[in-house]
Amino acid sequence: MNAPLPAGVLTTLQVRIRAIRWQAEGIHAFELADPEGRELPGFEPGAHVDVHLPGGVVRSYSLAGDPAERRHWTLGVLREAQGRGGSQAMHERLRVGETLTLGAPRNAFPLAADAAHSILLAGGIGITPLKAMAHALAAAGRSFELHYCARTRNNAAFLDELQALVPEGRLHLHFDGGDPAKGLDIAGLLAEPAPGGHIYFCGPGGFMKACAAAASHWPAGAVHSEHFKAPEREKPAGAVDGSFEVKLARSGITVQVGPEQSIVRAIELAGQRVPTSCLSGLCGACKVGVLEGEVDHQDFILSDEEKRTCMTVCVSRAKSACLVLDL
Ligand code: FES
Repeated sequence: MNAPLPAGVLTTLQVRIRAIRWQAEGIHAFELADPEGRELPGFEPGAHVDVHLPGGVVRSYSLAGDPAERRHWTLGVLREAQGRGGSQAMHERLRVGETLTLGAPRNAFPLAADAAHSILLAGGIGITPLKAMAHALAAAGRSFELHYCARTRNNAAFLDELQALVPEGRLHLHFDGGDPAKGLDIAGLLAEPAPGGHIYFCGPGGFMKACAAAASHWPAGAVHSEHFKAPEREKPAGAVDGSFEVKLARSGITVQVGPEQSIVRAIELAGQRVPTSCLSGLCGACKVGVLEGEVDHQDFILSDEEKRTCMTVCVSRAKSACLVLDL
């Protein structure tokens, strides 16, 4: 194998699609390798990458493979007929042997280093970041269990790999046939907070809500989640509905953001660009530093710590009349 790609300095990298495998009903696994055969950069379990698709479309997908595997990365993608077109492009336009541009891995869903036990809860395609976590936890000999909920066995991806990797008795499969009442009793499972235990969940909207409600009495720092689709938004109390001003400190530009406009769009119209991917407050690609002003955070990714100094400009807005951004 050639010298590895330098980690930490990459913003994008080229990969070759080494294989596309049917994984489950509507789910393909994409195996991606360096075109020159070099090792890929390392990534943390829970991380995702931006995939630059034909037509300038960028979508984020979790890295589902073993983080210790440097010869190839694996993405698991569910084809969503009602989606915005990214997953359809992945399924219908990409072919084995083609090259793709990816963003460097980013992680907004890290494993806690000190968990005495980890409970991983996956709903459908939400298995992808949790599978990478399962690889890492198993390799480190750490205590964990994985609950994987899907409609039927045919809808559950990566089953063979999971069965080989999760310790005996720790992989729990729940097939509800489309009726959540017949699925995992999430409230029952999380009824007793385990000392030193951490919970990680990823899945569709109803599943996320059920997990969040069932974990509401666990210590906040022990509950970790990642949405792959933005939940229905309720209008936050006190949010400014109208326009506001955004000053870009480094370029000296001031833009007005209209009531129906995102900050990203207003900045673009002024001739500046901010990197974006999901445009839904899920991926963190558009995170920028905030120097002045009060932010109305509407993302699903920044930690409370990050919210003190940063914002996602694709969805978040201003509570104050003006924001000054480090741009
Ligand atoms: S583009 Fe993904 S959070 Fe803004």
